[in-house]
Amino acid sequence: MQITICGGGNAAHTLAGLTSAHTETKVNVFVPFENEERLWQAGISKNGGITVRFPDRTTTGKPNKVSANPAEVLPGSDLVLLALPAFAHETIFEQIAPYLDLGAWVGAMPARGGLDWAATRVLRKGFQKYTLFGLQTLPWACRIEEFGHEVKVMGTKAQVELAARPVEKTREVAEILEKLLGLSLLPVDCFLCLTLANTGQILHPGLMYGLFKDWQGELYQEGPLFYQGVTPDSAKVLQQLSDEIQALRKRLEDCYPCVDFSYVRPLDEWLRRSYSTDIDDPSTLETALATNRSYAGLKAPMKPVKGGLVPDFGSRYLVEDVPYGLIVTRGIADLAGVNTPMMGEVIRWSQEQMGMEFIVDGELKGKDLSATRAPQRYGIRSLESLSE
Ligand code: NAI
Repeated sequence: MQITICGGGNAAHTLAGLTSAHTETKVNVFVPFENEERLWQAGISKNGGITVRFPDRTTTGKPNKVSANPAEVLPGSDLVLLALPAFAHETIFEQIAPYLDLGAWVGAMPARGGLDWAATRVLRKGFQKYTLFGLQTLPWACRIEEFGHEVKVMGTKAQVELAARPVEKTREVAEILEKLLGLSLLPVDCFLCLTLANTGQILHPGLMYGLFKDWQGELYQEGPLFYQGVTPDSAKVLQQLSDEIQALRKRLEDCYPCVDFSYVRPLDEWLRRSYSTDIDDPSTLETALATNRSYAGLKAPMKPVKGGLVPDFGSRYLVEDVPYGLIVTRGIADLAGVNTPMMGEVIRWSQEQMGMEFIVDGELKGKDLSATRAPQRYGIRSLESLSE
């Protein structure tokens, strides 16, 4: 099987090491930037491959070719894996589209919201000739130790949801990826489920809002705890965001009675399932965050300035999770006629910090809507056409 990994960061290193460790695979890497090509090639030729270091084992694999030119690495690929932030997906789809073989499987991990609409826009009619898939999140918490040489995996999620189009392919794609990557994947009915089940869209913008909405420019000497720094007020914001998504789920269940939306879980239930043994006090949403040992010590994103630290509003917790998460869900809620005042408030505050404009007068019609994956951006105007 010929595989191309697209991306040059933590996730791409993990995927490149794991997939090329199999004898029956030929793995290429498409790195979007030329400096990444040089770093990858230097690391691989010096060390002979990429080592993925898990807490209890180590796997090493050597990719066949690494290039910043898609023409050198894409043709002939059976499986193409995008391991990049969501804001790079459409650019990468555009770069790889001319070199995709018919019948190729193309997927993103993580998918974030609205991946299927972005792929359809770029691949247009040809989209019918590929299989598209997405994972609800990246299965690993991972960091590069040395470029082109070693990546450390701190943790692996117990199970991750996967959606595919055409839907009949979902199970087959899940089985192949499970074998290749040593994961447990849960096939779900459609991309809409992935879009709504993404809890990062609640936690990250919701906690940033809770921590910094009253910030007046004062300097910090140390970044505040992110998850464990949750206050009763922030917990209320998270609860309301989660409730709004559950109201939307109910409305979609009425509209699409054949689709199973049960994976779109309330935030507290998702936390208890995902971190069952790590939470000391699961009695409320606030305590489930504050006493979660997986989140111990994780700080809010900050950047240094003269004399201290300030919140980093260029962090992916806003620039990825708002336009490719919360706004996608808000766009669906608008089509569904579901009221989402807290989503509106968190987006209003976030867009101000990011210097962008998505919502104006309560409507998704700001000048930067084209930098999101809201359904309205793709000309989707009714609930019924969401899943076409
Ligand atoms: P990273 O920052 O290590 O790598 C990002 C790579 O994306 C860059 O190396 C570059 O190759 C590419 N890229 C960045 N901006 C680009 C642009 N404008 N155009 C084209 N390519 C661009 O990120 P990482 O850690 O590999 O994360 C990938 C995705 O997985 C992100 O969505 C992240 O939020 C998610 N994720 C990562 C986790 C982790 O532990 N690393 C955990 C959970 C989710």
